[in-house]
Amino acid sequence: MRLLAGMLLFFTLCLSVQAQVFNGTNQPFKYTVTKKMVTDKGAVVSAHPLASEAGLLILKKGGNAIDAAIATQLALAVVYPNAGNIGGGGFMVAHLASGERVSLDYREMAPSLAHRDMYIDSNGVASTEKSQNGHLASGVPGTVAGLFASHRYAKLPFAKLIEPAIELAEKGFVITESEARSLNYLQNDLKKYNTLLPAFYRTIPWKAGDTLIQSDLAATLKRIQRSGKAGFYGGETAKLIEAEMKRGNGLIREKDLAAYEAKWRTPHEFDYKGYRVVSMPMPSSGGLLLHQMMKMVETRNLRAMGFQTPSSVQLMTEVMRRAYADRSKFMGDADFYPVPVSKLTDPEYLKMRMRSYRTDAPTPSSQLEPGNVNYHESEETTHLSVMDSEGNAVAVTTTLNGSYGSKTVVGGAGFFLNNEMDDFSIKPGVPNMFGAIGGEANAIHPGKRMLSSMTPTLVLKNNKPYIVVGTPGGTTIPTQVFQALMNILEFGMDADDAINKPKFHHQWLPDELVTEKGFNAATLEALRAMGYPVGKERGGIGRTEIILVRPDGKKEAVADRRGDDGVAGY
Ligand code: GLY
Repeated sequence: MRLLAGMLLFFTLCLSVQAQVFNGTNQPFKYTVTKKMVTDKGAVVSAHPLASEAGLLILKKGGNAIDAAIATQLALAVVYPNAGNIGGGGFMVAHLASGERVSLDYREMAPSLAHRDMYIDSNGVASTEKSQNGHLASGVPGTVAGLFASHRYAKLPFAKLIEPAIELAEKGFVITESEARSLNYLQNDLKKYNTLLPAFYRTIPWKAGDTLIQSDLAATLKRIQRSGKAGFYGGETAKLIEAEMKRGNGLIREKDLAAYEAKWRTPHEFDYKGYRVVSMPMPSSGGLLLHQMMKMVETRNLRAMGFQTPSSVQLMTEVMRRAYADRSKFMGDADFYPVPVSKLTDPEYLKMRMRSYRTDAPTPSSQLEPGNVNYHESEETTHLSVMDSEGNAVAVTTTLNGSYGSKTVVGGAGFFLNNEMDDFSIKPGVPNMFGAIGGEANAIHPGKRMLSSMTPTLVLKNNKPYIVVGTPGGTTIPTQVFQALMNILEFGMDADDAINKPKFHHQWLPDELVTEKGFNAATLEALRAMGYPVGKERGGIGRTEIILVRPDGKKEAVADRRGDDGVAGY
């Protein structure tokens, strides 16, 4: 017994020394950005270099990819408050060294006081202001429950995995110009949607080189370190959340927090030309949309059409439109609504959906109404990809929904709450912040999870991890993952080009083809000439993080060039 206690103490000391090494100078953390790396052992790619470093630190201390994913998510909650979170939710898809494949749902859920028409006024008008901002916009957070559920496959104590995040919150980190700009842009909303002004609020503008210290958040993380899941869903943190809700007329109560559970789901899997694609099932539409889109192109020789030629973009656009039309009607939390997954992926159904496809003109959107499926009726997020040397591969996409979520910080607890209620269909036909519409399948109900588009995805080759990929971007997420996979599997690109080439997107409604800055102008002109309405060009679509295993077994890890995203590996 004594020997065991001694060993435990030694182990604990080793880890805390290492945690200090993470900030050897005892100064607020500074960092450089690495965009690309080829590694022998493990790699972490995330939206923030310090979060990737936190994951790497854990890998080097003997943790596996699950340990690293937990530490990275916790660090993101500190250094990337736009989307990294403990006040939101997410999904994990993993291939474990044992060969087992798992997916974990820690999506937010509607509070028990929520109801179907909660955003509709007496004139029948739905308020997206209320579903998108402030206290009423938040679902019951799932992230902390998800981190503890995934810890079942980790190797190191949770208390150690949270240490880098605590240090980053307590000592602070040096912000970049874009982070300063983003915080300055937020100031009016902070005043508008908060009952107590948080650490992010300042009377003088933030500037590059300032240090952001988050003492309330550090205290919350320490409660989680001490008390585990109950340090968030019970005790002081739960009381602070309920008090915040009551001050701002929100609906989340201590009993909702106590009742929250992350759920293990069977991953959504399918084969594509000999590869096994493993993605997220409901309540994310991501895996199902990816499945529909990939199967609708599989037999059509995309490769021969060429990358971003008029014919390949047209084909990919047409399959996007069909899949998203189905999303609007059939997809929602399958615990509450019978989503006809097997019908929607039946080869005969997909063939029927493509019958109206023509190579010289768009199929009118009105003819793409959701398919006639006979069944029993009854843009800010963040992604991280991790691989270790043991054969574990983890894809996590996590979110507050909009940038900084509801813009409400829990008073005294220091973290933003999500505005995920907007991902429900707040009224049939009323678009959410990503322009997506829905109906019965995604209507609000207490305890229900709102439909997501997040698509953390793995591709296996000969049953071994080959690609780990995912991205933020609301409804553009599945089409971005679709393009990244086609770029590799059909157009033969390396990981860097696969995620950094300009992207495009179509989601049926609104009826417009959206492209990113730098997209092939001649292709766009050809599509316009065919009759495709072309939307406003976007500055950037998503921030994809990818790891690709090369034929020699080395891991090519690439962080998206559209943001401050970074790779760490060894
Ligand atoms: N909140 C974005 C999504 O879950 O799709």
